[in-house]
Amino acid sequence: MTQHDPRTVYLKDYQPPAYLVDEVKLTFRLAPETTRVLSEIRFRPNPDAASRDFFLHGEQLKLISASIDGTPVEPELVEGGLKLDAPDAAFTFAAEVEIDPEHNTALEGLYRSNGMYCTQCEAEGFRKITFYPDRPDVMAPFHVRVESDLPVLLSNGNPGERGDGFAEWHDPWPKPAYLFALVAGELVAHSDRFTTRSGREVELNLWVREADIDKCAFGMEALKKSMRWDEEVYGREYDLDVFNIVAVDDFNMGAMENKGLNIFNSSAVLASPETATDADFERIEAIIAHEYFHNWTGNRITCRDWFQLCLKEGLTVFRDQQFTGDMRSHAVKRIDDAMTLRAMQFREDNGPLAHPVRPESFVEINNFYTVTVYEKGAEIVGMLRRLVGEEGYRKALDLYFDRHDGQAVTIEDWLRAFEDATGRDLSQFGRWYSQAGTPRVHVTEDWADGRYTLTLRQETPATPGQPDKAPQVIPVAVGLLNPNGDEVVPTTVLELTEAEQSFHFETLSARPVPSLLRGFSAPVILKRQQSKEERAFLLAHDTDPFNKWEAGRDLARDGLMAMVLDGAGPDADYIDALGRGIADEGLDPAFRAQLLALPGEDELAQAIFETGRAPDPTAIFEAREALRRAVAERLGDVLGRLYETHQIDGPYSPEAEDAGRRALTNAALSLLSLTEGGDRARAQFRAADNMTQQIAALSALLSIEEGAAELKAFEDQWSHERLVMNKWFGLQVARATPERAAATAEALTRHSAFEWKNPNRFRAVFGALAGNAAGFHHPSGAGYRLLADWLLKLDPLNPQTTARMTQAFSTWKRYDETRQGLIRAELERIAGTEGLSRDTSEMVGRMLA
Ligand code: ARG
Ligand code: ZN
Repeated sequence: MTQHDPRTVYLKDYQPPAYLVDEVKLTFRLAPETTRVLSEIRFRPNPDAASRDFFLHGEQLKLISASIDGTPVEPELVEGGLKLDAPDAAFTFAAEVEIDPEHNTALEGLYRSNGMYCTQCEAEGFRKITFYPDRPDVMAPFHVRVESDLPVLLSNGNPGERGDGFAEWHDPWPKPAYLFALVAGELVAHSDRFTTRSGREVELNLWVREADIDKCAFGMEALKKSMRWDEEVYGREYDLDVFNIVAVDDFNMGAMENKGLNIFNSSAVLASPETATDADFERIEAIIAHEYFHNWTGNRITCRDWFQLCLKEGLTVFRDQQFTGDMRSHAVKRIDDAMTLRAMQFREDNGPLAHPVRPESFVEINNFYTVTVYEKGAEIVGMLRRLVGEEGYRKALDLYFDRHDGQAVTIEDWLRAFEDATGRDLSQFGRWYSQAGTPRVHVTEDWADGRYTLTLRQETPATPGQPDKAPQVIPVAVGLLNPNGDEVVPTTVLELTEAEQSFHFETLSARPVPSLLRGFSAPVILKRQQSKEERAFLLAHDTDPFNKWEAGRDLARDGLMAMVLDGAGPDADYIDALGRGIADEGLDPAFRAQLLALPGEDELAQAIFETGRAPDPTAIFEAREALRRAVAERLGDVLGRLYETHQIDGPYSPEAEDAGRRALTNAALSLLSLTEGGDRARAQFRAADNMTQQIAALSALLSIEEGAAELKAFEDQWSHERLVMNKWFGLQVARATPERAAATAEALTRHSAFEWKNPNRFRAVFGALAGNAAGFHHPSGAGYRLLADWLLKLDPLNPQTTARMTQAFSTWKRYDETRQGLIRAELERIAGTEGLSRDTSEMVGRMLA
């Protein structure tokens, strides 16, 4: 469908803009249903453009008047914008339009959230604010005047004149329209200061509703750490006198890097020990860093067009991952990132929504803010760094910043900076951006006369629109261990560039045990026959923390697959190896918590499908439960001891060390409850003085179908805190048994606090339903039906969030015929609905293609 949709946009059709903009002046007269926007835009013909067709984007705008150099004009209003006969010289276009923020439920453009005005313009929302060349390769400085009686009036850049009922802002840095932002409301600030290394004094404000002022301190610290880190690690300094962050309750995504005025989903910035979990704190720190880092990778240097989205997102995710590693633990962070990539990006790559990190076409760009663009995009940056080394990477980045500051550029420009800085030819490497799909690397070994040979063969399955794949450059980090556990060859990076290639290691005294793809050195799937003994050996001896964890994970996955496919019982050898791992006091508690986490249901479904069989979600659920129970039975003593000895006395701190201990004790608690019952969890719930402990206890109780009283108590305690109530909604669905999941979700939609137009609340219930694999895929089809009903209800109001959530269905072709039939029926029902949004129709079209 993407192929034939007349609205499809293609990378190959890119044309430079006919006119450039030298300056923009905007005046906003705010009123809920009748906001007036006055614009004055100075245009100049683009010497590099082939055409002089003057077109401005504009959607849902009521044009009041327009003029060119002061002379009234009547533009031709066309689909998606306006046309005019424009001079072949510089001129000023002025217009007045009226818009309706109050009824803007799509949360794109200027909208209202709890009485405050805010904006979201990326990717193409500015055209809902005024007529403008709404494309990232048109960059201009902005002057903004906001008129309103509301006390706080914000826009991008530095503050200008401020008086009764108005405020002016000036952003001197040329920017594309997608980075425009405006906020007006009754807000209070948590404020601080930062001095940049060259001495610029920056005022920092985190703007929130008064009730949330106690949830700002952590975000502010994260901001200051991010600013310092970017100076120290990338040499990048902040460039305005003020940096504002605003928390908004109704927001489609996590947050937005608008120049000098970041707007955050409140769930991505507000945190107090009582209301946020350790995971929330870590996520908030990462998102604050991510949006801040965009100031250089995204804002100062932006994308030429939306096909280049990974240029800013892949790089900025990579940077925020480095930051989190530096703040916490690199080993633990790498494992987390690999888990996310495999669970979500490999899943995308293996289904109908697979697309290259730089897509070649789209109908709705909002549908391409994906794990592939973001997370695989970040992996590509990581591989580049691995290939050119730390120093080469720094040189390449310096050159990139130097050369392209103030420009809107492409992936080719990015790669050229690496080539020019390091002398490396990256033409083959570029395939990572254009080829979709996860490469499989098949490994065979040979051992003779002290010579060990590794033969690697790569192969990437076909993806939509790409039947044949060429070999990619795959950095495979390898170490070799002696049978006694000593490392005989430390980590070396093999560069696999051919379809098949052999690598030799000479003069070894005994056949080594290889540790392959250390640190998850490339986003590929390793295919290798490996004995249980070897895995247990690596779990015990590998010096690479990632592969140590990986060995345990492989053992768990193999064991679970044998349980599902061959009716095997829980693998006692695995459990014993696991027991030794978690009891090793030399290991970081956070790492031991990761060892304890079994592969998820969806990961197992993927792995089973990969063997050519249809996964049965019910059987997978039951196997995981049986293994969890067996672990709890066999390791009860160790788990009980860990639980007791790793408790924390003293006040809550969200930093990594304490968080790791809580992760470990709470993983133990959830297992212990299976055999002991709920007393331990109930005691923890009662004693908890922070959300991490409280919710972990509630979760453990719900998993064993206890906790009704605690659930009620939790609701009574937190009914006034929206963010906490999202957890309350989500957890019940996540922990519901397969039979009860859809019914639980359905009952919650009738709860008086189910504000379905709020994306966080909608996602709390339906994201949890989609994540409860055995519940969502229950053979009754009730989960599918319920989700489709609600997606159809949400689509007319909020296409973006609807389209995103259709992804729950994207794995449908993995399953048996009955389930496929049920899902296909829902997808067709959605596709056949009259007036379906462009966003959602593109998604279901691709899934049905
Ligand atoms: N650039 C933002 C970020 O990475 C994401 C904004 C995407 N929003 C959207 N509606 N597509 O933080
Ligand atoms: Zn981003």
